Amino acid sequence: MSHESPGDVVFSAEQISRRVAELAAAIRRDAADGPLTILAVLHGSAVFLAELLKRLGTTVDVEFVEASSYRDGTTSNGQVALGRCGRLDLAGRDVLIVDDIVDTGHTLAAVRRAVEATGPRSVRTCVLLDKPSRRQVDVALDYCGFVVNNVFVVGYGLDYAGRYRGLPHIARLEG
Ligand code: IMP
Ligand code: MG
Repeated sequence: MSHESPGDVVFSAEQISRRVAELAAAIRRDAADGPLTILAVLHGSAVFLAELLKRLGTTVDVEFVEASSYRDGTTSNGQVALGRCGRLDLAGRDVLIVDDIVDTGHTLAAVRRAVEATGPRSVRTCVLLDKPSRRQVDVALDYCGFVVNNVFVVGYGLDYAGRYRGLPHIARLEG
């Protein structure tokens, strides 16, 4: 029987909210010359995306892509399945890929390759959390909220086996 549950708070709701406002300000500054298309990676980015969007205002357009790499508990097998939610035609656009966390890097690398194949004008990346100690594939991060140690975290959109996405803060998974 699994008995994992959220433990110590790693980032509080207030800390996250302040940091998201800073990220949005930086994104707005850099995107001053034209409209931006956000490509949000489901499901983990949903909560981050919502807060980011409210801070960015009306100048962005949103598309979604589904990515799954976690097959078994907390371990990635390095293979990424990309599903298409709607169209993924980003030709000529300035695209900002938004995801919750970069762990091994396989997911973001796969999404980026798929975006690049559609001929965008530019591609940048934005993640709330970066876990650099687990990286297997090099990925460039243009905007990053926080760096986390090698611990599995849940909350604020991040799940364990489909649970805990609705926590307002980010906690360490314990058990
Ligand atoms: P990567 O392909 O190994 O970089 O994994 C990225 C995906 O795995 C993220 O989009 C998350 O959905 C998930 N993931 C990685 N680390 C964590 C974690 O600590 N908590 C919850 N989900 C995670
Ligand atoms: Mg994800």
